[in-house]
Amino acid sequence: MNYGHFSRDGREYIIDNVATPSPWINYIHNGRYFATISNNGGGISYFKSPLHGRITRYRINDVPPDRPGKYIYVKDRDTGELWSLTWQPVGRGVESYRVAHGFGYTRAEAEVEGIASSLLYLVPADDDREVWRARLTNANGHSRRLSIVGYVEFALGHALVDLINQCDDQHFNRVHFDRARNSLFATKTYWVTETRGTQHQENKEWDQWAFFTVNAPVAAYETLRERFIGPYRNESSPLSLEAPRLGSRDTDFGNAVGALQVEIDLAAGETRDLIFSLGVIPKVSFEADRDARLAKFQDSASVDLALAEIGRRWDDFLNRTRAETPDSRANIFLNGWSPYQAKVAFDVGRVASYYYWGIGRGFGYRDTAQDTIAIVIADPAKARERIGLLARQMRTDGRVYHHFYGDGQGEFTEHCDDPLWFILAVDEYVKETGDFGILDEKEIFLDAERGTILDHLLAVVRFADGNTGRHSLPIFGRGDWNDTLDYIGGKDGGESVWGGMFYAAMLDRLIALLEAAGRNDRISEVRSIRDRFRNAVETHGWDGEWYIRAFGENDRRIGSRENTYGQIFINTQSWAVIAGLPDRARLLSAMDSAKLLLDGPFGPKICAPAFREIDPKIGLITRCVWGKKENGAVFNHPTAWLIQAECLLGRGARAWDYYTKLLPDRVDSDIYAAEPYVYSQYITSEEHEGGGRASHSWQTGTAAWMYRVAYDHILGVQPTYAGLKIDPAIPSSWLSFRVERVFRGCRYFIEFQNPDGKESGVSKIVVDGRPSEGNVLPIINNRIGRVKVRM
Ligand code: GLC
Repeated sequence: MNYGHFSRDGREYIIDNVATPSPWINYIHNGRYFATISNNGGGISYFKSPLHGRITRYRINDVPPDRPGKYIYVKDRDTGELWSLTWQPVGRGVESYRVAHGFGYTRAEAEVEGIASSLLYLVPADDDREVWRARLTNANGHSRRLSIVGYVEFALGHALVDLINQCDDQHFNRVHFDRARNSLFATKTYWVTETRGTQHQENKEWDQWAFFTVNAPVAAYETLRERFIGPYRNESSPLSLEAPRLGSRDTDFGNAVGALQVEIDLAAGETRDLIFSLGVIPKVSFEADRDARLAKFQDSASVDLALAEIGRRWDDFLNRTRAETPDSRANIFLNGWSPYQAKVAFDVGRVASYYYWGIGRGFGYRDTAQDTIAIVIADPAKARERIGLLARQMRTDGRVYHHFYGDGQGEFTEHCDDPLWFILAVDEYVKETGDFGILDEKEIFLDAERGTILDHLLAVVRFADGNTGRHSLPIFGRGDWNDTLDYIGGKDGGESVWGGMFYAAMLDRLIALLEAAGRNDRISEVRSIRDRFRNAVETHGWDGEWYIRAFGENDRRIGSRENTYGQIFINTQSWAVIAGLPDRARLLSAMDSAKLLLDGPFGPKICAPAFREIDPKIGLITRCVWGKKENGAVFNHPTAWLIQAECLLGRGARAWDYYTKLLPDRVDSDIYAAEPYVYSQYITSEEHEGGGRASHSWQTGTAAWMYRVAYDHILGVQPTYAGLKIDPAIPSSWLSFRVERVFRGCRYFIEFQNPDGKESGVSKIVVDGRPSEGNVLPIINNRIGRVKVRM
């Protein structure tokens, strides 16, 4: 069954059956203030960090799964009828609701009991609050007397401490209503800033006041969950809403909530806007800023302006690339939802969703480094900032925090791949911007004085050079890109064949970068390290028809035909191509084996067959149920590399086949379950009885990679130091397609013609009316460049 569809222009996903198989959410945020909002009003809010700056609660493992949220209750004061402006929590008349998720906003529409409503949720670009604007229209013929109650449940500070030490933590909550200011304020007089649950009691308070206010006189309010909801009830039927008015009591203790009751009368046909705001004001400037902040968003025009500004910013972000392919379904993702998802993942840092609760981990090093590749096109300054942050998580020996919080806290692990992702981030930044100057800019190492970005890159080279095992391949440590290959080789560490390919590919990028920058002194050294890894893969990694995945203890081959489970892994086939290994016959065989042995009804699997026996010498992957997660699911992120590799081999039809197969708007949502407008981390494979079900939506590197692989390698418009390289790989059935791409200040309009039905290659390029040599477009010092490409 289908629960929704894209709007005509593809910019909204409209859910017209809101009883979706899982919460289908959106993110509204401005880079500091973050909120999630589900199709049923569920979601959390935090300031800067979901761990340290949690404003509202998420009730983990609750049923239903998306509570609490940002709810607006409506009660008819004459009949006593109660409903909510989103279907949940009251849950009346599911067919009355319709929700649109757009770029940076969500709108819930309903008509219940003769009241038409449109509830808009957004976070203004330059104000740290979320706005809920409820537009209510009396759609029946007589006047109505309504009570409107906005409701949130607070966490107030450290989300993990709130969860595991609630019995004590609640003694530090303070919630009061300021009648003169018509606003409710909440904070905590105790705050933990460490990343773990700890006995260490810090001697400080949360540095924020949360406020909750509305642009109409508050008739009554509530501050304590027990009083609002009542015993043995939940948000569906709060006891306090059965009385004409809330109890209007402050609290200095307990499960803190904010409930604001407004009473309005609506004449027949009359429309009224109520604007609720939930936000934070830093304590350092609370007295000075409070009244000015509260005065904002009191009228609808200011909300409209904020919405227009959000739209303008997203347009600006999204319109740097544009694709018109013959496939309208793909165009929706290429022109909106993939870069949108990638930007959200970049900003959120992959830590807050209904799958990641924002209490366990900081920003992942490798994830964060990869996230930069999608946003560098539209926002190179943000990418530069993130590169600085990544540099600051590195020691002079090249080791990096596996995950970090940006405040000096992080955790070292023995993953062999993490540091090398830094090269990707820097290289893509320079290719996009031509800013070689970044190499000389300084950032502090974790263990020493400042060093240039080049010093950091060379530290990574030292790490790679030193992290070598018996077969001259990278020592596996506690994992490589695949976190669940964590016990390969026991104490010896085993060796990663994929790691060898990855190191070679990243060092190859660095060599090209150093060459382009004219920094020749270290190139031959880096080249010889790269060649060592390439040769090691070629000498030891070939299995006859594909590349093995790893060496375990005693030279045991993993990812080989000689194994019962995990005979073939996706990453060592695609990365053999990406790493530029020399033997084309092997590459073709490896990629054909991937097609034959990994591709299934739901897409290509991460490995096959899935492990069905626990193998402590391999690790977590073998402990996981078969067909899910890294144990043989269609793990979306590496499928992007498979597509890239098919393009590099010039096999455009197969690349496109994979690309469209993996798009998230699957036909049957009752099976797929997750949001159809964003990628999930994985889709359960046919090896599991629940095949086809997706999980871990939103916070995955898939969006960034699918976006870049589609533009760079399928459509073939790829940034290089010298300019945009044109190198498409498409289905031969495409007769023409168009790409727009902003690059170094110029908007290139590129028209591809494919009259001979080719899959790849370019025979002629004309730039601004003049034939162009080679396939790298000149950098045009003009605002517009018109390019015609004949394949
Ligand atoms: C998750 C992690 C990512 C890792 C992948 C495979 O997506 O966020 O860092 O590479 O799993 O284990």
